[in-house]
Amino acid sequence: NGAVRVNMPNVDSPLQIFVRAKKKINDIFVEIDDYVKDAVTFMHAISGDKGIATPQDVANVEAYISKVQAIREVLKRDHMKVAFFGRTSNGKSTVINAMLHDKILPSGIGHTTNCFLQVEGSDTDEAFLRTDGSEEKLNVQSVSQLGHALCASRLQECSLVHVYWPRELCALLRDDVVLVDSPGVDVTPNLDTWIDQYCLDADVFVLVANAESTLMVTEKNFFHKVSTKISQPNIFILNNRWDASASEPEYLEQVRTQHANRCVDFLASELRVCTPKEAEDRIFFISAKEALLTRMREREKPVSSPIMAEGHQVRYFEFVDFERKFEECISKSAVRTKFAQHSRRGKNIAGDVMAALELVYNNATEQKTAKVEKQRILHEQLSAVEEQLTTITRQMKDKINRMVESVEHKVSLTLSQE
Ligand code: GTP
Ligand code: MG
Repeated sequence: NGAVRVNMPNVDSPLQIFVRAKKKINDIFVEIDDYVKDAVTFMHAISGDKGIATPQDVANVEAYISKVQAIREVLKRDHMKVAFFGRTSNGKSTVINAMLHDKILPSGIGHTTNCFLQVEGSDTDEAFLRTDGSEEKLNVQSVSQLGHALCASRLQECSLVHVYWPRELCALLRDDVVLVDSPGVDVTPNLDTWIDQYCLDADVFVLVANAESTLMVTEKNFFHKVSTKISQPNIFILNNRWDASASEPEYLEQVRTQHANRCVDFLASELRVCTPKEAEDRIFFISAKEALLTRMREREKPVSSPIMAEGHQVRYFEFVDFERKFEECISKSAVRTKFAQHSRRGKNIAGDVMAALELVYNNATEQKTAKVEKQRILHEQLSAVEEQLTTITRQMKDKINRMVESVEHKVSLTLSQE
């Protein structure tokens, strides 16, 4: 049963690379946190009356508590982000829904998605919406109201609506993947704003193309812009609506080769984001509509139009293959970009606190050496005095001896004269 499978932790998913790395780096920061707090306690113990650490020393180390706290907050929110782009009606929203195993985002003919929709995991078991910059939680029934171009509540096309969906309902969300749906690249003059606002922190881009036609200039232009602002973006190309090929089986292979060549050319020669060999693993021929249907059925959700075109299983396998390669790519990329930075900062903090401790240690040693030196000088002075005393005593003894001798001599003389 599909519902059961979705709810099981998928330990062999490549997303676990990210999940495990995140857990590990979280644990490391718990340790760094402890270490910093221990250092602060120690500093307090040797400051004040003890006079070894100055108030400035204590304050320096104390400042790291909030720094570590801030990094831990960022870490908690760290996620993998994938953004979907393509021309209107190519099936961006349908691809996302298929990946989420449910009809969450509005989709349909015509221009449907009219603003950016970001789907992310909700920590509670309820689904809700929030528009960017507002704290108000909206009922999820309004996804279509908010995100649908035909509905009354008109949002700016470059505004963002967060869709929080229960993590338990979807493996991708549970493993911290955030999916961003966009309006068609052909309906906006504001591509630069889009890129600046929503693309700079994306780990992976998915270009949803239409296999019934071909890659279009508007789509290509968008990704040319992306690759000027981001170095080596990870781009997948989905040739969607591949179910259309079932009606022209005699040309299927030729059309596929034609599309594939154009896509490889685009990624490897035009954008230069990967080699032609790597590009082959970034290009897929799928039917998002069929994939979504298959998954809705697996979960025993009511669906219409149960008839699927010839070859739907092959297309579904290719969709699953895409998901696996995508998961591998996004988790590796996110680990590299996000955690490398955190671990560098963690290392620096540990180093800085250590240096601060070393500083007070050195101060304390200096103080001790100074004391010992003082004692040594005192000791030397005492020895000198002692020596002098000995000499004086010896001299006095000699004198007294001589005096006694002379007195004895005189006495014996006197006695003998008598
Ligand atoms: P906008 O939001 O308007 O930019 O479009 P979109 O790219 O999000 O497309 P959407 O997912 O809304 O799909 C548009 C229409 O195409 C819908 O009616 C889908 O059911 C249909 N569609 C999506 N994918 C496929 C597919 O693989 N095959 C077929 N035959 N139809 C599809
Ligand atoms: Mg859409």
